[in-house]
Amino acid sequence: MPGRTPRSPPDGAISPPRREDKFGIPEEEAAQLYARAAAERWLRPVGLAVHIGSQITALAPFERAYRRLLERAEALRAAGLPLRRLDLGGGLGISYRAETALSLERFGAMLGRLFARTGFELALEPGRYLVGPAGVLLTRVIRRKETAHRHFVIVDAAMNDLIRPALYDAWHGIVPVGPRPGGLEGAELQEADVVGPVCESGDTFARARLLPPLAEGEILALLDAGAYGRVMASTYNARPLAAEVMIREGRAALIRPRQRREELWAHEIAAPFDAGEDEAAAGGRG
Ligand SMILES: Cc1ncc(COP(=O)(O)O)c(C=O)c1O
Repeated sequence: MPGRTPRSPPDGAISPPRREDKFGIPEEEAAQLYARAAAERWLRPVGLAVHIGSQITALAPFERAYRRLLERAEALRAAGLPLRRLDLGGGLGISYRAETALSLERFGAMLGRLFARTGFELALEPGRYLVGPAGVLLTRVIRRKETAHRHFVIVDAAMNDLIRPALYDAWHGIVPVGPRPGGLEGAELQEADVVGPVCESGDTFARARLLPPLAEGEILALLDAGAYGRVMASTYNARPLAAEVMIREGRAALIRPRQRREELWAHEIAAPFDAGEDEAAAGGRG
């Protein structure tokens, strides 16, 4: 559930986990299932797991969920069932915009308070927190378009490269990179819609974003693209996957080359019946 927090309201298609969703096992059924698994000859349950959502920047929802998990785990243990591990899931939120990222110090202190004396082994699954801020998507301005209502900046990246804005209406910081005549200081900001070139209205990275005037050819960085970026990328619209570059201590290394266009169809197989039908048709025409 990478896109939503338990508090951000759903837009219908994508929403936080609710009882009617596919995620998890109803809490009241978990104990019974655990006991059943423990009684099975070929199964060895080792613990309970919880994952309450993603991009959660407040501590309270985690604490509430973990208290409940702990109660359930202690009840199972008291009932004599083997249980040594609690998996606390992920969901630790980062700062895309003005959110205060979850504080790891406070998160850690809370885990200490709840679990230090319980003897349970803990597992964590933070995804976004580890890699989100580490990645940027670089893109070039390919055109500007003015209409009566909007000022569009068209870039060469698109929703296939970073789908979060199209899928979740997610906000990513956008900054011009590279030398600009006069620099960024003092540049007059103007509202622009930053859009990709794919034929979908949703192929929009930002709406009415205050940006300095951007010229064709300028490079922009879409920030915090390290999580749910490349892994959710696709070749939609016959667009090869972008190259990936790792930067460490001022050194850059290509770690995945730009996909070649021929790779888009390299694994396609011509169906044999097409050839057969062609021959039959040719034979029929005699
Ligand atoms: C079970 C589970 N664990 C961990 C994660 C990682 O979440 P995040 O990237 O928000 O830390 C997810 C993502 O939805 C998940 O479903």
